[in-house]
Amino acid sequence: MKELQYLNKYFSKYKWRFLIGILMTFFAKFLALKIPQIIGDSLNIVEDYQNGIVTDLEEVKHQLLINVLIIIGVTILSGVFIFLMRQTIIVTSRLIEFDLKNEIYQQYQRLSLNFYKKNRTGDLMNRISEDVSKVRTYVGPAVMYSVNMIVLFAVGFTQMVSIDVKLTLYTLIPFPLLSVSIFVLSKIINKRSTIVQEYLSKLTTFNQEFFSGIDVVKSYGIEASIIKDFDDIANDSKEKNIHLQKANALFFPLMILLIGISNVLVLYIGGSQYINGEIQIGTIIEFMLYVNILTWPVAVVGWVTSMAQQAEASQARINEFLKQVPEIQNNSSKPFSLAGSVTFKNVTFTYDDTNITALKNISFSVKSGETLAILGKTGAGKSTIIELISRLYDTNIGTILLDNTPIKEANLNDVRSQIGFVPQDPFLFSESIEDNIKFGKEDATEAEITTAAKNADVHKNIIDFPNGYKTILGERGVTLSGGQKQRVSIARAIIKKPKILIFDDCLSAVDTETEEKILSNLERISKNITTFIISHRISSAKNADKIIVLDDGKITQQGTHNQLIKLEGYYKDLYEQQLLEKEN
Ligand SMILES: Nc1ncnc2c1ncn2[C@@H]1O[C@H](COP(=O)(O)OP(=O)(O)OP(=O)(O)O)[C@@H](O)[C@H]1O
Ligand SMILES: [Mg+2]
Repeated sequence: MKELQYLNKYFSKYKWRFLIGILMTFFAKFLALKIPQIIGDSLNIVEDYQNGIVTDLEEVKHQLLINVLIIIGVTILSGVFIFLMRQTIIVTSRLIEFDLKNEIYQQYQRLSLNFYKKNRTGDLMNRISEDVSKVRTYVGPAVMYSVNMIVLFAVGFTQMVSIDVKLTLYTLIPFPLLSVSIFVLSKIINKRSTIVQEYLSKLTTFNQEFFSGIDVVKSYGIEASIIKDFDDIANDSKEKNIHLQKANALFFPLMILLIGISNVLVLYIGGSQYINGEIQIGTIIEFMLYVNILTWPVAVVGWVTSMAQQAEASQARINEFLKQVPEIQNNSSKPFSLAGSVTFKNVTFTYDDTNITALKNISFSVKSGETLAILGKTGAGKSTIIELISRLYDTNIGTILLDNTPIKEANLNDVRSQIGFVPQDPFLFSESIEDNIKFGKEDATEAEITTAAKNADVHKNIIDFPNGYKTILGERGVTLSGGQKQRVSIARAIIKKPKILIFDDCLSAVDTETEEKILSNLERISKNITTFIISHRISSAKNADKIIVLDDGKITQQGTHNQLIKLEGYYKDLYEQQLLEKEN
């Protein structure tokens, strides 16, 4: 159980709760085991009266009444302790579950983009929900039942042996058998339920994909084939579930069978002893009650063992993520104030998951406050340059300098907080427009928000919505058009008042007139901001202080608009082509 040792810190954090829980369990079970004894006693009193050993009927009645009252009292008290036992142990397991989830979530936030490219969302979700809940069953119920079993057995067994050793041994013969068979059965059940889980997650993934792609499905008219695919998975899932239920259905019959065997043994052996006058009738009943009390904890041994194995497997999956060191490390705690110049020196970058070398020996520099436009065919490496500036990836070949400091040596948090980034495929959260813009600056005032929206030329669109800036976006809200989405995310970037502004092809979905407006606003507000504009349009690039053209990861052209239109090459071709389109 190497992996589960990771949980030791939590066991020690909550050790007092666990200790109290164990104490409560002890009291509860100790009391529960008193009841068979009292019932046995009562029957013996009646038997003694019938055999003429005791003659005073009033005395017998009085004794029985006292016994009944004791049974009621003990039951209530034991119930109170069981309540307290659950309140401590089970509640503690929930606290550990909460801590563990938080720990995983914080680790998820720390891990770099590359981690997310390599692992599937479903897997990430599963480890923080399914796996944690398996582990919780181990720290909660499994611990509780183990303590339960130890106490019941220690107390019960001592009590039984003190009454009759021979009868005890015969009664307990089926118990090891019970434990082993439950263990085997639990393993089968676990295996089958893992398969059921897999099918469940297949179904979920299938549906999730289908719902997100609903417009494609509808427009291609392929509903029927989707239904068929769904049916296939659902049918398999059903078969596996039935398979699981068959194993599940064996659980209780097996237990009852073994209790039955024990009872028969008590009856037979105890009966013979009674006939020989070795024991009284009450003792037989007392033993039968013990057998019934002890069966459940014994059955649970098997269950607990298989639970622990499952928890071990789940914890291993959790540990795998917890132990990953984020690729992008913050190597400096010194505050880093950025002026805004960016230099690439012979940078080569290869994505390690696909082995695609997206940038090959790239060198350029941008002074603080300048605007750099990057053009190039799709797949040329434009977005990759940007991702390196935001340090979403680290490069091993070449150097990137921010104000003459190598990017890896600058305080990462400060770097990111001074960069305003509009990604190529902007993502807006299912919250209000206002909150989405404030994402760039949490304490932004209303005036700042509207100014940012005006500069991004989206203010007029927003106030046309009935709820204005309070309009909720996303699944249960308004769907923005592609261009509106781009402009809201531009507002989100500029409200930050960053030192470096990056626009990754984010004017592609707006018409040229709006593009013109946004660009002239930008020119006004970004006097002291280094700006990167990635585009496929000459109109976005022409006013930049410098333009670079990328092709297949290499810089093929570099200069200003006026220089480049005079040179044969990609820029001039693009210029002429777009000029022609405009005239038509
Ligand atoms: N996360 C990634 N993992 C692996 N390979 C990637 C990743 N992102 C991009 N690539 C690859 O790197 C190359 C450059 O991609 P990049 O996104 O930088 O191109 P781009 O110039 O921005 O193209 P576009 O104009 O279409 O946005 C492409 O071949 C692409 O397949
Ligand atoms: Mg791109």
